[in-house]
Amino acid sequence: MLDLERLAETLGAQYSYYDGPEPDEEIDERLHPRWQDYLATALRPGMQVLDIGCGNGATLLAHADMVAAGVGIDNDPDHVARARTGCEESGAINLEFEQLEFDQLPSQPWADRFDLAFSERGPVGYSVGSVQTALTVIRPGGLLLTEVIGDLHHQEVREVFGGRRRQPVSVLDAVSVAFERSGVDIRVAADLISRRYYPNIYEWLKFQCSIWAWSGTPLPHPEDPRLELFARRATDEHGRIATTHHVVVVGGAKLEDGSPYGRNA
Ligand SMILES: C[S@@+](CC[C@H](N)C(=O)[O-])C[C@H]1O[C@@H](n2cnc3c(N)ncnc32)[C@H](O)[C@@H]1O
Repeated sequence: MLDLERLAETLGAQYSYYDGPEPDEEIDERLHPRWQDYLATALRPGMQVLDIGCGNGATLLAHADMVAAGVGIDNDPDHVARARTGCEESGAINLEFEQLEFDQLPSQPWADRFDLAFSERGPVGYSVGSVQTALTVIRPGGLLLTEVIGDLHHQEVREVFGGRRRQPVSVLDAVSVAFERSGVDIRVAADLISRRYYPNIYEWLKFQCSIWAWSGTPLPHPEDPRLELFARRATDEHGRIATTHHVVVVGGAKLEDGSPYGRNA
C-alpha cells in the first residue's frame, strides 16, 4: 500500500521544469553514452556555436571554454533569465542568451553565421521545416546536432498514465529523413537507450511531476489507482522504480550546395 500522506505532500509541491523537490535518482554509468559525448567530439576552438532551446544554459556553460563564442536561444523568459544568471556566475564572457521563438531565427542577422547549431531535446529535429529553419543560420559545411526524445522514453509511465502517442515510424527514421531532405550529410545517428532508478515511487514522482507540470498535464490525485498500478509494474527486484530513457541523436554537416529538394521552386 502506498503512503497517501507522502503522496499528497509530493503532489502538493510547486513544480516547473527546473524547480520542485529534487528527486533522488540513480544512473548506472556503465555503458551509458550521453548525447553530450557527441557534442564534445564536434567542438573546436574558434567555433561559433548556437544552442536552440537552451533552457538554463547548462550545456553551453559547461562547454564555454571549448569554443570561441556561443549563443543560446529559448522562448521561455524564465529559462533565459536562469541562463543569464548562470553565465554571470560562471564569469564566461563569450556566451550570450536571448529570448527568441525558434521560428524567428531567420529574422535574426545570423545568416550562415554558426559553425555548429545544436538542440538538446529542443524544437529541432522532428520535422523538415525545423531542420531547414536551423540551417538558415549554419554556414555551408557547418554542423547540426540534435537530441530528441525516443519512442521508448518513459514507456512504463505512458502505459499507465497515457501521454505522447507512439509514432508509426521510429523517431530515428523520422529525424534522419528530415535531415536528409533538408541537405544535411548525416555523420551520426544513434538510439541511446538507458535506465534510471529511483529508490521508491515518491522520489520518482518528484521527477515525473516536474515533467507533467511543464507539459501542462494535470497531476494525479493521491488516491489515483494508477499510482499503485505503476508502482506494482515498475518496481524492480531491489525495490527501486526503474524507467527507460530513450533519446535519439542525429548530427551531420550542411551540404555546400543545399538541399537536393525544392531547387526548382
Ligand atoms: C526539454 S527542454 C531542454 C532544455 C535544455 N536544452 C536542457 O537540456 O536542459 C526544451 C527547451 O526548449 C525550449 N523550447 C521549446 N520550444 C521552443 C521554441 N519554439 N522556441 C524556442 N525555445 C523552445 C523550452 O523552453 C525548453 O527550455
